[in-house]
Amino acid sequence: MHNPELQAALQWNERYAAQSVEQLTDLLRIPSVSAQSAHHADTRRAAEFVRDQLTTAGLKTELCETPGHPIVYGEWLGAPGAPTVMVYGHYDVQPPDPLDKWDTPPFEPTVRNGHIFARGATDDKGQMYTHVRSVAAWLQTAGKLPVNVKFVIEGEEEVGSNHLELWLQENKERCRNDIAVVSDTSQYGPGMPAITYGLRGIIACEILLHGPSKDLHSGVFGGSVANPANALARIVGELHNEEGRVQIPGFYDDVADLTPQEREEWSRLPFDKAQYLASVGSSETWGETGFTTLERRWARPTCDVNGMLSGYTGEGPKTIIPSWAMAKITCRLVPNQDAHKIVTALRQFVEARVRPGIRLEFKEHHGCPATVCDLTSPYMAAAKRAIEKGFGKAPVLIREGGTIPVAGTFKEILGVDTLLLGWGQNTDNLHSPNERFSLEDYQRGIRASTCLWWELAGK
Ligand code: BES
Ligand code: MN
Ligand code: MN
Repeated sequence: MHNPELQAALQWNERYAAQSVEQLTDLLRIPSVSAQSAHHADTRRAAEFVRDQLTTAGLKTELCETPGHPIVYGEWLGAPGAPTVMVYGHYDVQPPDPLDKWDTPPFEPTVRNGHIFARGATDDKGQMYTHVRSVAAWLQTAGKLPVNVKFVIEGEEEVGSNHLELWLQENKERCRNDIAVVSDTSQYGPGMPAITYGLRGIIACEILLHGPSKDLHSGVFGGSVANPANALARIVGELHNEEGRVQIPGFYDDVADLTPQEREEWSRLPFDKAQYLASVGSSETWGETGFTTLERRWARPTCDVNGMLSGYTGEGPKTIIPSWAMAKITCRLVPNQDAHKIVTALRQFVEARVRPGIRLEFKEHHGCPATVCDLTSPYMAAAKRAIEKGFGKAPVLIREGGTIPVAGTFKEILGVDTLLLGWGQNTDNLHSPNERFSLEDYQRGIRASTCLWWELAGK
């Protein structure tokens, strides 16, 4: 702990704390919305920004082209014999909609009450950038790092990381490493840092039901032809039973049950239902009977409609039978569930319910399995020590309901575990209006990351 080089790096962070906020602000100004083609050029600009900052920090960098958005690669390999750490993050962000719900514009970063508000503040620009600053701190002071680092910062995480897997396969040698580090999750709560040892997987698809070739007068024709909006609602309504159980045949077949030990440990984590309801703005919890809210979020699979569209949704009435109806659906997966098997089961569930006069178009978007990682590795112990130093508090061990597709890919292709060290809060409005990141957590994250390189070297 009293190593002079580590101290110097930590002091450098403190001295240049304002600069770390300015640089993050510049990055947050770039609307790198990966899902929208109108933002293609902006997304590339964000990649170039990250590449340039890594170069300035002292890494050898490259902008790697893919059929989609580019991958930023950067390495510093000057610590022979020491572990090699792969840092993963993403520079792309979710669409900012609905725009009218933002107190200040999503791409005009604003500091209020100790938080920086902007799309991407916590997910993932702010969290990812802590690692850029920490390697800069080491290289600008000691002129070296205690470990070798390889940065892979991608621009398609929010759309399923579709080109990353192939790129990793093609760059397997170059990406070889001992342990991956990702800061793209959350702490358990304010002042309660956490290490996330499990994530849910996902499958995403779209259902499009076609009815009559055009919108029809609902009086003249109503009752005589199938209405795709009614048909869609019926199918969606059959997805769950009264107990909140998903009704797709085989859906739970492979689900890994929670161990009594895990249930016991989770039941000891502080959980305040009223506070939880206030944070999501809901009046009651809902979910699968027989499971607590944490269990439902972290260890049970789900099936949710993300969006539905059909017919006339403008002002005032309009009497039509819509020509089509669509729904975007995702299932969150837990360990042992197979993404392909689940999406096929969902497709068959829908197909079996399509009635005469309706034509189904079923699109598969992306999918990846759930992950859990080794709790007993020395890297895990090192991460705990680094967080304790950075945050002044030992982390709790949690799982999360969200998905980071690359975690499974790292294990599969590179054979390494991923340390999920989240500096954010689930109340930071990720994917919602008024996304934010606490500036205090930003500096603590930079501190923890600076200590992490030291601890992972096993010093
Ligand atoms: N950073 C999130 C995932 C996350 C957030 C995990 C909070 C745990 C806690 C990530 O950017 C994300 O949103 N992932 C998507 C993945 C999908 C588009 C394939 C998700 O979970 O919806
Ligand atoms: Mn993210
Ligand atoms: Mn996200």
